[in-house]
Amino acid sequence: MILERKNFMNFNKLGTNMKETLGEPNVKNLQEMTKIYQLGQAGANEIGTKLENLDSEFQTEYDHNPIHHIEERMKELQSLAKKVRRKGLALTAENIQQHIFDVAGLRVVTNYVDDIYLIEKLLINQSDVTLIKRKDYVQNPKPSGYRSLHLVVSVPVFQSHGVTDVNVEIQIRTIGMDMWASLEHKLRYKTDIEASEVAQYGDQLHGYADELAEIEQKMQEIYKHLNNFKYKA
Ligand code: GTP
Ligand code: MG
Repeated sequence: MILERKNFMNFNKLGTNMKETLGEPNVKNLQEMTKIYQLGQAGANEIGTKLENLDSEFQTEYDHNPIHHIEERMKELQSLAKKVRRKGLALTAENIQQHIFDVAGLRVVTNYVDDIYLIEKLLINQSDVTLIKRKDYVQNPKPSGYRSLHLVVSVPVFQSHGVTDVNVEIQIRTIGMDMWASLEHKLRYKTDIEASEVAQYGDQLHGYADELAEIEQKMQEIYKHLNNFKYKA
């Protein structure tokens, strides 16, 4: 089991500021939201299973596990509502489907850098997966130093009344990139330290991102040599 599933929809959190999130309590609206989350979860499950199957094939065929682990999360309803409003839109099912691509999200943590692109290629090549968006922050890191490959894919979900294409956001990154992003995320949301300290740690982390990239490249070379990895793209 490499896939860890997180929150679906948290009714406790929702209950604390339902009005702020959904406007006047409205059964129809809640039903629509629940439907979107149920579909999103199903889409994430489809992609999660595909990724687990790919990893297990590589284990069998090449004695290599491209994936270290996968996390699956649904966007918190409050954060979804905020994002929709930030875009100047009303919180409707249609607006969410057309403008928000990360209701369902997967984070795929790989062992090595080449595994990121291997996973991408093998997933996108599948006939029922369509690439909607792609941002390569591995080749072009963010100003912070953040590295990851971000994809939005669409996958068909089959239900009692037919098929719906569901968007799933996938962040693919190495263990090193994941470790870096967690720490930098902490720094970004820390409110109780001085601005000068934030800037100093930010600079340090930027430097470490470059160092990590170098080390990861060198470790990958050693691994490939030791493992005599046979797969040719
Ligand atoms: P949002 O989805 O609204 O954030 O906008 P976007 O789609 O333009 O975002 P982007 O693809 O740049 O990044 C989306 C996600 O990547 C964020 O929610 C974070 O999880 C992660 N991310 C992006 N930039 C950074 C960064 O500089 N540091 C860290 N730690 N995470 C980042
Ligand atoms: Mg996004």
